Amino acid sequence: MKVLVIGSGIVGLSTALELALAGHSVRVITRNYEEGSSWVAGGMLAPFSEMLMGDLLDFSLLSLDLYDDYVKRLEEVSRVSLFYEGSSAILRLALTPEERESLEEYARKVEEKGFSVVRLTEAEAREAEPHLGKGVEGAYIFEQEGNVDAERLMDALLFAMENLKVKIEVDDIYKVSLKDRAVGAVVGYKKEYHADFYVLAPGAWARSLMDVPVYPNKGQILRAKGVEISRVIFSGRAYIIPKDGYLLVGATSEDAGFDTRVTLEGARTLTSGALDVVPALADAELVSIRTGFRPATPDEKPVFDLGDNYALLTGHYRNGILWAPATAKMVLDYLETSEVSPYFRVFSPSRFASE
Ligand code: GLY
Repeated sequence: MKVLVIGSGIVGLSTALELALAGHSVRVITRNYEEGSSWVAGGMLAPFSEMLMGDLLDFSLLSLDLYDDYVKRLEEVSRVSLFYEGSSAILRLALTPEERESLEEYARKVEEKGFSVVRLTEAEAREAEPHLGKGVEGAYIFEQEGNVDAERLMDALLFAMENLKVKIEVDDIYKVSLKDRAVGAVVGYKKEYHADFYVLAPGAWARSLMDVPVYPNKGQILRAKGVEISRVIFSGRAYIIPKDGYLLVGATSEDAGFDTRVTLEGARTLTSGALDVVPALADAELVSIRTGFRPATPDEKPVFDLGDNYALLTGHYRNGILWAPATAKMVLDYLETSEVSPYFRVFSPSRFASE
């Protein structure tokens, strides 16, 4: 089948990867293949630390289960070795008694669902991560949580596209011609494109193509090096994410439209949060601060829509890196076996329709 993927963030490229491996003839159209927020993502696979519940947690767990195989497949096809830790990668701190209480309540619910949670006292947390600053009430380790270098993962996806002969074309798609529930064409400034099936993965830019309430949530993220941290330290003040030879400090959350500027306020938020949590970072080298745009929705849930000949996949908000394998698999399963994932219904845009 001839498949056209619009968007070259992790969702578009992961779907292109799975479909190309299944033998489909896939083309990707992107406005700018380094524009996607995936390039500046923290790469934490952290649904428990984010305290997700219900459908969001279930979908996250589905994706976490796929992650080892997804990484393996991507490494094989791209011949790029990824930085990836698949379990117990995150130390979730409680910084105040109130936070400890709400994390404890959440941890109990997670245990009721059958997942194991490791609880650490302040002293044990400090033993696990000697660089921790003062004011830690305790910590949790949720075994399933992981950490992946999202930038290297994106590099690997581009190499995979090359190796699979998936062509990536640069064009700015400004219109999806939709009649009833079928796409007739997608229209870019260079030309019109046609395919048997369309995968629309426009991230934070979804509203320029489809009638869905997706808007950008700006994140600034800092890169530093020179201090060794053994695990991701996730806290309400900042999260500090070790990678191979550097670390990330994330991230601001700003309602600022598509403002690409790095701001002094952003730098202050990130550095003061990071230094409170890990004072030793005062001596780290600040490498860069970059911005990205989370595709946010009013209820913080993704938007999945399956038409006659298209799938719309957007609204991944804070969890695009985590949810990419499960999202791609929904499209693969549909095209290979006609199986419609229940998540097309659960996260359908019809939930936003006015009564
Ligand atoms: N997943 C972390 C963030 O979006 O900042």
